[in-house]
Amino acid sequence: MMLGGGHGHGPGDFREEETLGKVYDARLMRRLLRYLAPYRWVAVIGVLMLLLLSLLQLAGPYLAKLAIDRYIGHSDFAGLTRISLVFAGILAAQFVLRVSQTYLVQWMGQNVMRDLRLEIFTHLQRLPLSFFDRNPVGRLMTRITTDVENLNELLSSGVVAIFGDVFTLVGIVVVMLWLNWRLALITFTVLPFLTVATFLFRRFVRQAYREIRLRIARINAYLQENITGMVIVQLFNREKRNFEHFRRLNYDYLEAYLRTIFYHAVFFPIVELLSAVALGLILWYGGLRVFSGTLTIGALVAFLQYAQRFFRPISDLSEKYNIMQSAMAASERIFKLLEEPEQPSFTPPVKHLEHCRGEIEFRNVWFAYHDEDWVLRDISFHVKPGERVAFVGATGSGKTSIMSLLTRLYEPQKGQILLDGIDIRHIPLDELRRAVGVVPQDVFLFSGSVAENIRLGNRDISEDVVRQVAQALNVDRFVERLPRGYDEEVRERGGILSTGQRQLLAFARALAYDPKVIILDEATSSVDTETERLVQEALEKLMVGRTCLIVAHRLSTVQTADRIIVIHKGKIREQGTHQELLALRGIYYRLYQLQVVGLRPSRERETAQTTGAK
Ligand SMILES: Nc1ncnc2c1ncn2[C@@H]1O[C@H](COP(=O)(O)OP(=O)(O)OP(=O)(O)O)[C@@H](O)[C@H]1O
Ligand SMILES: [Mg+2]
Repeated sequence: MMLGGGHGHGPGDFREEETLGKVYDARLMRRLLRYLAPYRWVAVIGVLMLLLLSLLQLAGPYLAKLAIDRYIGHSDFAGLTRISLVFAGILAAQFVLRVSQTYLVQWMGQNVMRDLRLEIFTHLQRLPLSFFDRNPVGRLMTRITTDVENLNELLSSGVVAIFGDVFTLVGIVVVMLWLNWRLALITFTVLPFLTVATFLFRRFVRQAYREIRLRIARINAYLQENITGMVIVQLFNREKRNFEHFRRLNYDYLEAYLRTIFYHAVFFPIVELLSAVALGLILWYGGLRVFSGTLTIGALVAFLQYAQRFFRPISDLSEKYNIMQSAMAASERIFKLLEEPEQPSFTPPVKHLEHCRGEIEFRNVWFAYHDEDWVLRDISFHVKPGERVAFVGATGSGKTSIMSLLTRLYEPQKGQILLDGIDIRHIPLDELRRAVGVVPQDVFLFSGSVAENIRLGNRDISEDVVRQVAQALNVDRFVERLPRGYDEEVRERGGILSTGQRQLLAFARALAYDPKVIILDEATSSVDTETERLVQEALEKLMVGRTCLIVAHRLSTVQTADRIIVIHKGKIREQGTHQELLALRGIYYRLYQLQVVGLRPSRERETAQTTGAK
């Protein structure tokens, strides 16, 4: 947890958000265009409509010129009416085109976003767990929300609008030169100033936008930690200090935002000022021309209108520059995520589990989460079908890691793991995980009803099976006490259930799938004696007729096992039954002592000490 102090180091690593990248990257663009492929006709129609719109926009001022010079000047009433109708018609057409064009392009953008979110989501589901060890939740959430949103801006308001802006700009320049090239050149005298202003604006705003992104990412990460860690915040009276820290982050964000607002506030009036200067010049020089009879009044009016429209796309384009830039950076990040290699379902040749017997063998397995920091060293053991084996060892000795390898949550670097004599790498993941049921150390509950949490969305598991399983495992005892029974909503962190109850629910979940092998990673936290008894009973039923690997923290569980394997610092150090291991007076013996001494009342502790301690 990030507890105040430092600026966004540790879990929230914002370097990725910081990179700006190019405004235009052909490789990224080509890849983006592939997402447009299913909607290419919509895109083509959208662009055509945009071209038509630009043309219609060009027509307006020219019609005004005709109206003034041809009809108003000669008091031609019929002509004026006709041209006014055409003018109105063009405006109406522009309206219709604008509405449908906007809708079409946005429709396309939203659809592309939906496709992209689906692709990212399925991709995330297939990534190996080690990927999630490396990447904080907040960052992945950003990929699928904010980054995708940025991309949409690129598609809908970026690329298409830029296309339209450029087209309009070129059209206006051509028409202006054609109407009166001298007047056109006079208008263009303000362009150098405009170029400088735009260049400066872009540079400053770019920097400020980067700051904004960075600071909002910090706020989000801090918020996420404070909300998920609210218990600790409140218990340890951290409210004030965390508030202080948040206040600072919040202020930094405000400050960065105000900076961009300042640049905008300065830049757009400058553009307006320059366009006012240009209009003044046109009016003055054009007026002189009208006096000398080389320019009609209508042409002057048209020119003024064109000049006004000339500046709008220019300021629009400098805005779009930023959109393009952040969208390019966003797409770079999204594609990088999509390029992360997925976990293959199996390594060929594929071998199917026909009727799983539940025989397990580890052969010289070495495993490290990182490089060569070996967590497991040369682990070998064999479990017969239906056998119950307990794994004991100090915290951090590697028990959970062994279980993670068996379900291929992680892959070992060396050695082999066999199920029914088949290397598990050849077994399709879904078959493997159907055969091996897991009750994890930390039970995770999804938001949804109790029944849904047992069934986990599997339609093959009927309501009856859920009830049967729950009954067999003592789950129904507490479920019936819930106001709405099996339909009671469980919040995402399982708030309404106690640790013991959650454990029972996890048993039910595993049993409902009826696996041949059961892995039970006992919770380290102790539960009350009543729940302990319920859990114990449930466990007995869960284990019948299955191969069981139990990471045991409770003595009662260890003692019912056929065999105990003692893990110490990633190695198997002792194996045997409870009695055999006690007689060995080794690691197990010491662990047993600690447990007995730690959990029993002092009288028993004394006896344990007198009978055991050296
Ligand atoms: N996802 C992970 N990434 C990196 N290292 C990990 C990861 N999970 C566990 N480790 C490390 O691997 C070692 C073994 O952890 P493991 O969870 O297997 O221990 P354990 O025996 O199950 O402990 P406990 O009894 O506390 O549950 C520990 O040193 C731990 O720091
Ligand atoms: Mg563990």
